Amino acid sequence: MRTPAPVTVTLVRGDITLQSVDAIVNAANSSLLGGGGVDGAIHRRGGPEILAACRELRASQYGKGLPTGQAVATTAGKLDARWVIHTVGPIYQVSGNDPSLLASCYRESLRVADELGARTVAFPAISTGVYRWPMDDAARIAVETVRNTPTAVEEVRFVLFDDRAYEAFVRQLG
Ligand code: APR
Repeated sequence: MRTPAPVTVTLVRGDITLQSVDAIVNAANSSLLGGGGVDGAIHRRGGPEILAACRELRASQYGKGLPTGQAVATTAGKLDARWVIHTVGPIYQVSGNDPSLLASCYRESLRVADELGARTVAFPAISTGVYRWPMDDAARIAVETVRNTPTAVEEVRFVLFDDRAYEAFVRQLG
């Protein structure tokens, strides 16, 4: 296999549910049955097909839910994307602030994207909302992991919902 070109990392200040990409990554929880934040926005705009696909996953290989740091794809429903890749970030303090679980969310999402043949992938700032991971540290882990993970994905787009997140990622891109 030819050595893939390094992935292009882009930053967008906006709403991840409005992105036109192959795959949109969801900051889910282990239940895969929806929630607030990005999760709520994706299910709201993506429609019931996504939840139906998540329920099927829970009824099959994810009977106990999706473990932290892992990723799984479903349809994107009405979103302008082909897939939603659901991943579960670590909760700050609870996970002993172990960066490897947060890094795993990005690495596993890229692995699933490669399995799907996705070439453009939009990520939110995983774990930086309800899961309270400090933004600068989360941005560092996100950018470092994406830059160091071999993938056939051509564009990784970090979609940041507010200035605090956007500026943290700008600082990491250097
Ligand atoms: N587009 C892009 N980013 C968004 C959007 C959106 N529409 N909505 C929220 N965000 C940002 C938040 O501002 C935060 O920076 O996504 C980041 C992650 O926040 P959360 O969505 O709260 O996700 P997380 O911290 O990983 O917590 C996951 O929250 O919503 C529940 O069901 C979810 O239990 C899970 C937990």
